[in-house]
Amino acid sequence: MEKSNGIGRTIISKERLRKRVIDLGRDISEDYKGLHPVVLSVLRGGMYFLCDLTRAISIPIHVDTLSIGRYSEEGQNSSGAVKITKDLDISITGKHVLIAEDIVDTGLTLAYITKILKNHDPKSLHVCALLNNTAHRLINLPLKYVGFDIPDMFVVGYGLDYKEDYRHIEYIAEYKLP
Ligand code: IMP
Ligand code: MG
Repeated sequence: MEKSNGIGRTIISKERLRKRVIDLGRDISEDYKGLHPVVLSVLRGGMYFLCDLTRAISIPIHVDTLSIGRYSEEGQNSSGAVKITKDLDISITGKHVLIAEDIVDTGLTLAYITKILKNHDPKSLHVCALLNNTAHRLINLPLKYVGFDIPDMFVVGYGLDYKEDYRHIEYIAEYKLP
């Protein structure tokens, strides 16, 4: 991948990502044996993680996605409040649900999604976060699985963007915010 302005050092290489995601898939396959969970992710940040994680899971699962939009992006406020812009397509009522999140930062997004999903009465609801940056955590929700704890920095790649750029980089890189 051609380096662009702002892209800093590699934080998690393609190979480390691959190995860790396979481990997570193995753990999930053991823990959810016989439970036929729904593994879902938030577009677009979670899409690469969801694709790789679910392919590393060896038990029967259902896969779904949702999309959210931030009110702050429309200039209404900067509270981090989000709204659903694409709902789930399959029912999660009575199902074991695992959210595959790209990154948990303040925890606000996850708190919002968790609240909405709980309204659908899933049998269980847990989180698998690829990246965990605790430096700005405002809401502490339990993370059943964490891929990597990262130091306080802005990162891009493997689904994560800066203004929609860099999602398709195959590794996690530091991004120096302008
Ligand atoms: P939170 O609501 O503060 O936990 O933020 C979660 C969301 O913010 C993630 O799902 C990402 O979309 C975005 N985000 C947080 N930190 C980063 C980062 O370092 N790089 C890219 N996106 C980030
Ligand atoms: Mg996201």
